Amino acid sequence: MGDNPPGKGSSKMPATVVVGAQWGDEGKGKITDILAEGAAAVVRYQGGSNAGHTVVVNGDEFKLHLIPSGILHEQTLCIMAAGTIIDPICLRDEIQGLRERGVTCSNLRVSVNAHVIMPYHLLLDGLQEDARGRGSIGTTRRGIGPTYTDKTARKPRSIRMADLLDEARLRTLIGEQLAHKNLIIEQAYGHRPLEPDAVFDEIAPALEVVRPYIADVRGTIREAMDGGGEVIFEGAQGTFLDLDYGTYPYVTSSHPVAGGACLGTGVGPTEIDAVVAVVKAYTTRVGSGAFPTELTDEVGDGLRERGSEYGTTTGRPRRCGWLDGVALRTAADLNGATAIAITKLDVLDGLDTVRIAVAYEIDGERVERMPENLDALSGARPVFDDMPGWQQSLSDTRTPEELPEEARAYVARMAEIANCPIWGVSVGPSRDQRVRY
Ligand code: IMP
Repeated sequence: MGDNPPGKGSSKMPATVVVGAQWGDEGKGKITDILAEGAAAVVRYQGGSNAGHTVVVNGDEFKLHLIPSGILHEQTLCIMAAGTIIDPICLRDEIQGLRERGVTCSNLRVSVNAHVIMPYHLLLDGLQEDARGRGSIGTTRRGIGPTYTDKTARKPRSIRMADLLDEARLRTLIGEQLAHKNLIIEQAYGHRPLEPDAVFDEIAPALEVVRPYIADVRGTIREAMDGGGEVIFEGAQGTFLDLDYGTYPYVTSSHPVAGGACLGTGVGPTEIDAVVAVVKAYTTRVGSGAFPTELTDEVGDGLRERGSEYGTTTGRPRRCGWLDGVALRTAADLNGATAIAITKLDVLDGLDTVRIAVAYEIDGERVERMPENLDALSGARPVFDDMPGWQQSLSDTRTPEELPEEARAYVARMAEIANCPIWGVSVGPSRDQRVRY
């Protein structure tokens, strides 16, 4: 992995989007962490506490859902931009957890315009999922769908981080929201209504902790970019969980694709210099929805165990399958990827054969890109390219030359499918376990 991703021609790239090229859990955190070293700012542009990333602080493992991993580098600003949604209780817990481990969080900023995940959003997410029964989406139950729904509904007005600064205004808004929400909570779901004062009291202890971090971040991002430092825009979830371009309705309610970085932060598209699409060497997915290369046999179980494929946020076992080249090709297009970062290649060690789906067969036709109507995906039959596996461990390889020929051929095939260069290959969880290209 080089330190600067290839972009539009210059070797030093000031604005880079790191985006998941699959269904989330591609290992974006590690790539962001490497890029964040020395960066002026790391900015999250969408999603909320549905994301999950493990950081190691003084030997202690710590799970973060909201705060970008750049928080450990004190010189790097860590920004939650307007396109994110914030659960203040979760944010408080993360700030306090980090402080207890000696991380000051003085570099954290949260946009005044980010919408707030309230306790009734968590309740509604759970009630909606339960009511969907066997047809559930498999959400993280972190209130994501209901919060973005309220944001786009506009009236009654959703609560934003700036509203947390003014207690009287916050109480009024909670009252307005609940007048509307309680109708749904009671009549659609038969749940007892929520008391506005009780909702306020539930979040009140968190407010004191989070208030100092609420800021006008658009100007701060601008300054970081104008100052010539690198700015990393960190996507959460992945391309095929995008509300418009994913496997709808089994998607999240925001825009993880690289274009979401512009919407979520207020930075114009011409200011993005590089897009690193992070792709795991195989495929995983949590929750429901189509998954053409899924393996429900012992090969899939082996990937899950060797790759520790269990959700950071929910602990759910992830569904595992072969690399989906159709998804990779499509993701590279959708994100305008300038490079791919390949993760977890070492998880494929020891397999006799490794398979890549290079096309789908849908209704007797060969298809090489995801159809726009992803309903067709449920009947898609993957067309595989079988390649020889490798028998040695990759965990100590650091240069392309050290990789066994079969592994080199596999990553070269991935780059060919994505039609862009490889920025690096991760071969283990620690920072230094990477092959620089
Ligand atoms: P929600 O974002 O909690 O509404 O969940 C919607 C879908 O996105 C479900 O299938 C979740 O499992 C999936 N999802 C949400 N966040 C993540 C993530 O960070 N990694 C992987 N899947 C996710």
